[in-house]
Amino acid sequence: MQHFTSINDVPNPDALIQRALEIKRGPNRKSSFVNRKSLVLLFFNPSLRTRLSTEKAAQNLGMNVITMNADAGWKIEFEDGTVMDGDKAEHVREAAGVISQYADVIGIRSFPTLKDRDWDYAEVVLNQFKKYATVPVVSLESATLHPLQSLADAVTIEEFKPKARPKVVLTWAPHVRALPQAVPNSFVEWMKTCDVELVVTHPPGAELAPQFVDSVQVEHDQHRAFEGADFIYAKNWSSFTDYGQIISPKENWMVTPEKMALTNNARFMHCLPVRRNVVVADAVLDDPRCLIFEQAKNREFAAQAVLEWI
Ligand code: CP
Repeated sequence: MQHFTSINDVPNPDALIQRALEIKRGPNRKSSFVNRKSLVLLFFNPSLRTRLSTEKAAQNLGMNVITMNADAGWKIEFEDGTVMDGDKAEHVREAAGVISQYADVIGIRSFPTLKDRDWDYAEVVLNQFKKYATVPVVSLESATLHPLQSLADAVTIEEFKPKARPKVVLTWAPHVRALPQAVPNSFVEWMKTCDVELVVTHPPGAELAPQFVDSVQVEHDQHRAFEGADFIYAKNWSSFTDYGQIISPKENWMVTPEKMALTNNARFMHCLPVRRNVVVADAVLDDPRCLIFEQAKNREFAAQAVLEWI
């Protein structure tokens, strides 16, 4: 069955990027191609962009969309073989099986615990839904990956790149809360398949999981990393090694106009939501070279390309 839970599910990522751009440029973006198919979106965590863009994409395709906030109400048991005498009301076997009766595609958002690294990196929630659902599963951001976001980011870079092989810098930035590693993991995965010079910059202690950054250039000096960059992609993530802990470097890693001045007139990117003057200064976000709304816009076309393909 064809799922969309990581780039590894996609035989030809570039074709999907080009299809999203084609949908965006097309005179008639709407289609009744999958008319009367149903999409059920399950959100175990909140969302603004993913929820609205995926609903809109499905509507463009003529699909019925049913969205459920699954973070309230009863809890689902994900472990097999357990005695369910605690607070979990339903096993994922029944939940996924029942939802499959109403859905042609299931979308799932499930953030990490940021407490149990093995459990998070095993992608228990997503994989149990893939195992027990009888229809395709689309990740709306899982414990370790956010492929719909990364596809939209790849589309945005393809759209705005100033040269054939741009320099793309993923920079760690500060935050007051411990955030998942899903966006940076996924961004690196997708950028590795694109024709870009990718540099990841972060303070010591913010190393990403080795399976994602194996062959990637890592630069601990943020200023040096920014030199000559065509795109600056900022994101906070909590520690992978000291799992889930907030990283507090001595230097200020916030993206500022002074740091952007080191670049090749770079475009600024962030997946949002963003904390102003913590992650990035107002002047960078409010600069015309900032692409945050283009990224958000491209979420719709990315999701539409994925649903059409599925
Ligand atoms: N970027 C992103 O996934 O935003 P939401 O959490 O609002 O969906």
